[in-house]
Amino acid sequence: MSENNTCAIDINGHKTVACRTGLTLFAGLRTQKVFLPTGCGARGVCGQCRVKVVEGETSPPTDNEKGRLKEAELSAGWRLGCQLRLQGDLEIEASSCILHAKEYKTTVASIIPLTYDIRRFSFAPAPGDKVPHRAGQFINFVAKPYGEAKGMTIRCFSFATPASVEDRIDIIVRRTPNGAATTYLFDHLKEGDEATLIGPFGEFRLSDAKAPCIWIAGGSGLSPFVGMLREMLDRGVSDRPVKLFFGAVNERDLYYVGELREFSAKHPWFKYIPALSGGERCEACADYGLITDVVARHISNADQYEAYLCGSPGMIEACIATLGGKGVKRENIYFDRFG
Ligand SMILES: Cc1cc2nc3c(=O)[nH]c(=O)nc-3n(C[C@H](O)[C@H](O)[C@H](O)COP(=O)(O)OP(=O)(O)OC[C@H]3O[C@@H](n4cnc5c(N)ncnc54)[C@H](O)[C@@H]3O)c2cc1C
Ligand code: FES
Repeated sequence: MSENNTCAIDINGHKTVACRTGLTLFAGLRTQKVFLPTGCGARGVCGQCRVKVVEGETSPPTDNEKGRLKEAELSAGWRLGCQLRLQGDLEIEASSCILHAKEYKTTVASIIPLTYDIRRFSFAPAPGDKVPHRAGQFINFVAKPYGEAKGMTIRCFSFATPASVEDRIDIIVRRTPNGAATTYLFDHLKEGDEATLIGPFGEFRLSDAKAPCIWIAGGSGLSPFVGMLREMLDRGVSDRPVKLFFGAVNERDLYYVGELREFSAKHPWFKYIPALSGGERCEACADYGLITDVVARHISNADQYEAYLCGSPGMIEACIATLGGKGVKRENIYFDRFG
């Protein structure tokens, strides 16, 4: 351990920062502007802040860590950065994103309703500030204290903007009833307000392979696919078939229908399949029923496919099972659980 109650944290053998002992790793790194991602405001429940301790003394795992990490993971050194208290020098392995993630002071440029409970929020970074990222990655939105929500309210939102757009951050957000961050976004945040975002984080992004793709989205899970489509256009990719399934309950839950239909009319490699499960019929819909049944009807012999899924944890688990049954290899299924 170094003097003055500080310790040295070595990250991936690439960067070393000095932190105060007694702080959590999450809090200590923040004092040095190194950001671990969080989906729970550092309460030990989301698992986004996980790191592997390769060398060094730490506090013992908390109950939250024992609940979130498997025994084998704990034995291998995996910990939650928001729970682990610093006792001395540490060597950790973490996603390389944290070496590049930055805090952005932005202004809310626009708030556009897409459905009755989904809005697109656009944030403009300070002039000259760029936000390098890939569609599919996510950013941490930091809500200011309001009403009863006085603690640190930070949540993950996927970029809807492609890599080519670095001077704007678009996110598509669905309101969670009584949700701390989405209530702030929907009821308190106004155009022209300042907002803090931290990132980018995450490994979810379209691979550079040529494999045909199945994309499955529910609710605000369409967000990364909007950015990915733009990235394919930007990179001139037109030989990679994509089937985008969008699962919704009723017609009022659909958005970007006109844009996606127009896009599929212009680009034969792209097929858009919106489906309703609530019993309503609508002109825009390509099919009806549970999204898993719809996918099963439209896909056969999918062993060459890559699949990308975004939405609720339940939808993702069910779709992984369906895709497995159609021959998609587990290692070719990528997803972000919005929950
Ligand atoms: C990698 C990643 C990317 C994400 N990207 C996006 C995105 O692009 N867009 C987006 O909208 N969200 C996204 N999310 C989810 C988002 O981070 C928040 O979890 C979500 O917006 C809820 O936050 P909140 O603070 O409003 O709710 P919280 O205060 O965190 O409340 C959530 C609580 O409400 C419960 N709950 C959840 N849904 C409902 C519901 N419908 N009705 C009642 N209770 C409910 C949960 O069980 C939980 O207890 C993403 C999550 C992850 C992990
Ligand atoms: S930040 Fe959520 S578990 Fe650590």
